[in-house]
Amino acid sequence: MIQLVIGSQWGDEGKGKIVDIMAEKADLVVRFHGGNNAGHTVVINGKKFPFHLIPSGILQKKPTVVIADGTVIDPDVLLEEMDIFEKMGINLKKKLVISPRCHLIMPYHKELDQAYENARGKNKLGTTKRGIGPVYADKVSYNGIRIYELLDWPLFVEKFKFQAEIKNKILVAFGVIPIKVETYLPVFKKLAERVRPMVRDTFAIFQKAIKQKKYILLEGAHGVMLDNSFGLYPYVTASNVIEGGVNIGSGVPSKKIDEVWGIVKAYTSRVGGGPLPTELFEKTADDIRERGYEYGTTTGRPRRVGWLDLPAVKFACLLSSINRIAITKIDILSGLSQIKVCVDYKLDGKKIEFSQCGYLELKKLEPVYKNFDGWKEDISKIKSFKKLPVNCQKYIKFVEKYLEVKIKIVSVSPERKASIFV
Ligand code: GDP
Ligand code: IMO
Ligand code: MG
Repeated sequence: MIQLVIGSQWGDEGKGKIVDIMAEKADLVVRFHGGNNAGHTVVINGKKFPFHLIPSGILQKKPTVVIADGTVIDPDVLLEEMDIFEKMGINLKKKLVISPRCHLIMPYHKELDQAYENARGKNKLGTTKRGIGPVYADKVSYNGIRIYELLDWPLFVEKFKFQAEIKNKILVAFGVIPIKVETYLPVFKKLAERVRPMVRDTFAIFQKAIKQKKYILLEGAHGVMLDNSFGLYPYVTASNVIEGGVNIGSGVPSKKIDEVWGIVKAYTSRVGGGPLPTELFEKTADDIRERGYEYGTTTGRPRRVGWLDLPAVKFACLLSSINRIAITKIDILSGLSQIKVCVDYKLDGKKIEFSQCGYLELKKLEPVYKNFDGWKEDISKIKSFKKLPVNCQKYIKFVEKYLEVKIKIVSVSPERKASIFV
């Protein structure tokens, strides 16, 4: 069986939590795009584990975890994560596989990301400044350096020096101090030695697993609204978040995917710039942000929050053939007397579809809301759908009907165990 977990909104929907619980029975758990701009959280008995690169399935005994081809790797971040899990007694040589095709985030990528953001001034996009845009730009323009080159040290040094020379000219033009290759060689040398035993041909691994009908769990990052082609460009990330990104980023054919799980947060959150039609401000926003602890897992930035935007989620479902939904953080809505859900968009008094909107339309349009009565009870310990407050059930049923996709998991707390299987 092959399952894909995908964020249906602007990221941070709770993918890490859902991947962790599904990973219990998986043979392979796979990251296939993005880098450490992602921050996926797993909580076990009150202890928080944030993941940026290593797949969130590593805390389960059974699966081997794979950092596949489309993922971009920051050496410091991977080394740090490897240290954390090795200290926990996890044997990474057995448990972790890395594709030689992964591109490396070089120091100049981070500098360039920052320099572009500074240059944009008040029009900045609000990137995570992890070098994501520049590393993918280099990949597309044949200027990237991969794990493949890293394992051939003289070749790596040559490529690094060549690229640094070019990038330094751009950095100087931006008024930034150029980078010195020598400063960074030790960390790359260390990375090369650490990852060498884990670098394998992931194509062969996936083909074998498919043939043997193994259970592959693909861990998407970010969210569909951040997809480089179909998100709200330019307020997007650099990789393809949608279902098609699986084939591109891992070599696993999309046709082989049995289940596409869309993770839907019961409200909306977003870090970074760009329009957010259902955005809330002041007291309700502060309430939801504090109760939902809506602060970036990667950057710590406060997340913007809003009501659930169903036209956007519906677009994500159709675009990625999402056929199962896990709704998360519904517990955060407990205690609100009224809850709104956006069901339509209007621009200049006329209905407009999400797919017709770029960021200019989204900035101006008016969301059409449906109101729901809230519920007061703490639902974080509830184990069955029928025990949820009636108004909470109504809310979930409405979302399911609107999206025309079955809601299979209702997550009611960050804890691994706190999920209702419907
Ligand atoms: P991801 O990027 O999609 O993996 O999501 P993040 O980990 O960045 O953000 C989701 C946050 O919500 C994390 O702090 C999770 O521990 C937490 N979380 C996940 N599911 C639930 C839930 O059902 N209820 C509550 N209260 N928190 C949740
Ligand atoms: P997870 O996997 C939320 C956002 C950034 C910024 C835009 C571009 O944890 O859901 P980038 O650094 O990628 O060039 O920034 O994309 N962004 C995310 N927002 N969750 C994420 O990942 C994100 N990954 C990127 O905030 O607006
Ligand atoms: Mg996150």
